[in-house]
Amino acid sequence: MTSHTPSNEPQNGKSPEPNDPVLREGPEPSEKGAPVPFWLTILASVIIFWAGIQLALNSGGFRADVYNPSLVSWSGGGGGGPVAPPDPKVIGKRLYNQNCIVCHQSSGMGVAGQFPPLLASEWVVGGDWVGDNHLVKILLAGMQGPVQVKGSTYNNAMPPWSQLKDEQIAAVLTYIRSEWGNAAVPITADYVKTIRAANADRKEPWSQKELKAIPTEIISAGAGAPPAPPAAPPSPASAAPPAA
Ligand code: HEC
Repeated sequence: MTSHTPSNEPQNGKSPEPNDPVLREGPEPSEKGAPVPFWLTILASVIIFWAGIQLALNSGGFRADVYNPSLVSWSGGGGGGPVAPPDPKVIGKRLYNQNCIVCHQSSGMGVAGQFPPLLASEWVVGGDWVGDNHLVKILLAGMQGPVQVKGSTYNNAMPPWSQLKDEQIAAVLTYIRSEWGNAAVPITADYVKTIRAANADRKEPWSQKELKAIPTEIISAGAGAPPAPPAAPPSPASAAPPAA
């Protein structure tokens, strides 16, 4: 008897058994009704606030086209927020690889006798009578017939690229004008737009002979904008030469 632990034994067989192991267990601890700790509330608020700021800064204004290089317009139209414009040369390179590389090659050297080079081509960087307007025109409507490039004559046909948007044509031209050692000023989407509008009815590919009859227009270095902006009221088509 004495060997037992007294507290664990029913004392005298009476009904209330305060020392019964089951009864000695307290009720299951419960947190259900406990209030959320104050520090947790603060922490959650801070995280939500921080997340909100990150979204505002990095969401690109929730524009669907922000990450789509082929849709994006960086010419300064519409668009809210300080979205940095994508680099036309990066977009231009991609467009070149998609559309031009098969003929003009990644080296820009073309294929002798078939596809003329873009590297150091007077058509690309400008030459005696070849202007930036001529370059944009042949991209928009294509080119066919005999053409001299760097002293060699080619007589073939290039399809038009009018399905590309103004920004895309501007980007691919800006790319070929600054790649392979070429160093001509960028072509802006506004300039492409102007040339496109002035030649809206031109569907057949241009020939060198025809183009030669059109006055040369060179985009001034630095500004990268269409030359000779009209003094008084801005009229978009006035900078373009008359359609042929
Ligand atoms: C199917 C082949 C083909 C593709 C694709 C092509 N070109 Fe051409 N390109 C030609 C040919 C051929 C000529 C010369 C046309 C002629 O003989 O009158 C030419 C001429 C040119 C010229 C003027 C001549 C020169 O060499 O500088 C430029 C600039 C040019 N292409 C740029 C481009 C760009 C930019 C692209 C892509 C958007 C492109 N081409 C896609 C075949 C192609």
